[in-house]
Amino acid sequence: MSKPLVRAVMILTWMVMGLVAALIILLIVMFRNWNQPPTFASEESTEETIIASAPAAAPAPPDYWISPDIATVPSDADGDLILYGKDLIAHTSKYLGPKGSVAQISNGLNCQNCHLDAGSKPFGNNYSAVASTYPKFRARSGTEETIPKRINDCFERSLNGQALPNDSKEMQAIVAYINWLGTGVPKGESPKGSGITALAFMDRAADPDIGKVVYVDRCQSCHGADGAGMMNPEGTEYTYPPLWGPHSYNDGAGLFRLSRFAGYVYDNMPLGASHENRQLTPEEAWDVAAFVNSQERPHKNTKADWPDQSKKPVDHPFGPFTDSYPEKQHKYGPFQPIADAHKK
Ligand code: HEC
Ligand code: HEC
Repeated sequence: MSKPLVRAVMILTWMVMGLVAALIILLIVMFRNWNQPPTFASEESTEETIIASAPAAAPAPPDYWISPDIATVPSDADGDLILYGKDLIAHTSKYLGPKGSVAQISNGLNCQNCHLDAGSKPFGNNYSAVASTYPKFRARSGTEETIPKRINDCFERSLNGQALPNDSKEMQAIVAYINWLGTGVPKGESPKGSGITALAFMDRAADPDIGKVVYVDRCQSCHGADGAGMMNPEGTEYTYPPLWGPHSYNDGAGLFRLSRFAGYVYDNMPLGASHENRQLTPEEAWDVAAFVNSQERPHKNTKADWPDQSKKPVDHPFGPFTDSYPEKQHKYGPFQPIADAHKK
């Protein structure tokens, strides 16, 4: 072979080998990409980031009040009084109900039936704003009310019973517990999630007939067709508290106002519902409130209430009123026209 021919063959061989090598590299790269499609790869990597960042990023703290931890109650005489107070809230009937071991001064309800988790549940009519805002002037009595006075309002109305003496151990325990719950709440402040949610008014009257359908579907299985609830087998307290009838709250109680009842059930009923996990629409809450509060219940003489009648809330169902709206509209709504009239 001539020298130039040999050189040409060698160049050609190198070129072919170079091409083959390039092809192999290309194939390897493509093969790897087939094994790990880009979408899969990126999903996996985000998953990894989430897992990796999970322990570092603690869940965002809620923007509403959270109860102090009951385990932080001191183990001394003060602490014992606080824990007794908590037990009185949770099991009022055992101590002070019709068969109460301390006294028989109330209807068998527990404070906790309406102030859920012993008054510690966010949006569950909790006591977080009590220590910080009492004593305070209340228009219903027209006086400056202390915490014991406010507690006794619930004994006389919500528990359709008698007042607990201010100097009794039981009253002191309940006050001690409520004050402890308010630990850390600045004076004068009502934290978010305290008390009962205020629902927007409907533009129609709440309807007891629609509410009855809600009741039968969503409430009756626990509270009963006759609204009487169900006692525990020992007969010491309610497993399901009554919503009307002789053992329920009287017509002077907070829940007898439609807005209080609707706000309470909206965030808390049926049992298991919460602010984060509501189970009723606002309309269902208003209508079921109208149904329940149109049933029979004990009457309380509240003639001394609201010495300044212009301060009555729009949904206070008993006249006389300083506006021209009838009792029926004050009970069932529509409330917005009354509210507007009061603003003038
Ligand atoms: C049938 C339901 C019911 C029961 C039972 C009940 N309460 Fe109440 N309580 C209410 C309602 C409704 C309010 C008013 C909430 C509102 O308007 O935001 C209230 C308000 C209060 C307040 C004032 C809260 C505040 O932030 O101003 C205190 C204190 C209180 N109750 C204590 C008690 C105690 C103690 C018991 C048990 C002896 C009790 N309640 C039982 C329904 C009830
Ligand atoms: C699964 C059973 C269950 C269902 C269903 C249920 N509740 Fe209750 N309800 C309870 C229990 C239990 C309590 C007392 C909570 C406690 O003590 O912790 C309660 C308390 C109440 C209270 C305050 C206490 C009282 O007796 O006045 C009202 C008002 C109330 N429920 C209304 C309703 C309404 C309205 C519905 C339907 C929308 C409903 N509940 C559905 C179990 C239930």
